Amino acid sequence: MRTSAPPKVCVTVADMRSACRELRAAGKRLGFVPTMGALHAGHVSLVRAASAQCNVVAVSIFVNPTQFGPKEDLAKYPRPFENDCTALEKEGVDLIFAPTVEEMYGGAGTTWVTVEGLSEKLDGRSRPGHFRGVTTVVSKLFHIVEPDVAFFGQKDAAQVAIIRRMVRDLNIPAEIVSCPIVREPDGLAMSSRNAYLSSEDRQRALVLHRSLNGVEKAFREGERSAPKLAQAGRAVIAKESEVRLDYFEIVDPETLDPVESVAGKVLVAVAAYVGPTRLIDNILLDS
Ligand code: PAJ
Repeated sequence: MRTSAPPKVCVTVADMRSACRELRAAGKRLGFVPTMGALHAGHVSLVRAASAQCNVVAVSIFVNPTQFGPKEDLAKYPRPFENDCTALEKEGVDLIFAPTVEEMYGGAGTTWVTVEGLSEKLDGRSRPGHFRGVTTVVSKLFHIVEPDVAFFGQKDAAQVAIIRRMVRDLNIPAEIVSCPIVREPDGLAMSSRNAYLSSEDRQRALVLHRSLNGVEKAFREGERSAPKLAQAGRAVIAKESEVRLDYFEIVDPETLDPVESVAGKVLVAVAAYVGPTRLIDNILLDS
């Protein structure tokens, strides 16, 4: 935690852009953490990583409508803005960018940034258009903030792969850092959506972490066949009532393509509906 003045809150693109430019012109290394708010310890870990690696830290809080499908939870997504600001002040954040939807998307809004191929894998398959919304808003935010380094959570492993690819393909001069998943004491990956879970569903949700642990154990015991490991993970999910599997896949962490055997680094990723709530989790295995 750093002790400093309260964060400056910018609500317009022009204000945020000039505040960021001023800091960078003063020679500061600017770290940026994009979020949709409802901050928890996972978000805070990104802010702390940014504070450790940069002189100044900017955080955006923007519930981005273009990454939500028509039947998804845009309207009910939690927006505890005051609490979020207090948490960010405690962390010594310098700048908060909290634009309205009109400020970000007012006007024409017909230009999209799409990372083709990657955007249709994993979550992209069951959430059509989701990653197009993410890459569009993140590239807009990058143009406004012009960060030296941007911090993302490994929790959203496909998102990290897609952002890295976008930054490479579009020559965006920002370094991308991915930070480990922060979990509740019982193993549940922290997520703003955990707030939707009833107490029964909160217990059932542990099956995601359990399925990944099972795969990791089988891997440690010598199993290297990706289809067999994935099948073992799916079997664990199938045993939990009221949990419907979306995907359980073992893929290359950069291309998100399924692998046949675990050689080098692989991503084991799961998404499941726990009651009405869609949750994701993953682990990286390295042989
Ligand atoms: P949001 O879900 O608010 O997450 C913001 C960042 O926090 C993401 O990089 C996410 O991976 C990270 N994060 C979430 N839960 C985490 C956990 N348990 N441990 C570590 N990091 C975690 O991801 C988005 O917002 C949006 O798609 C965004 C990138 C802001 C674009 O709108």
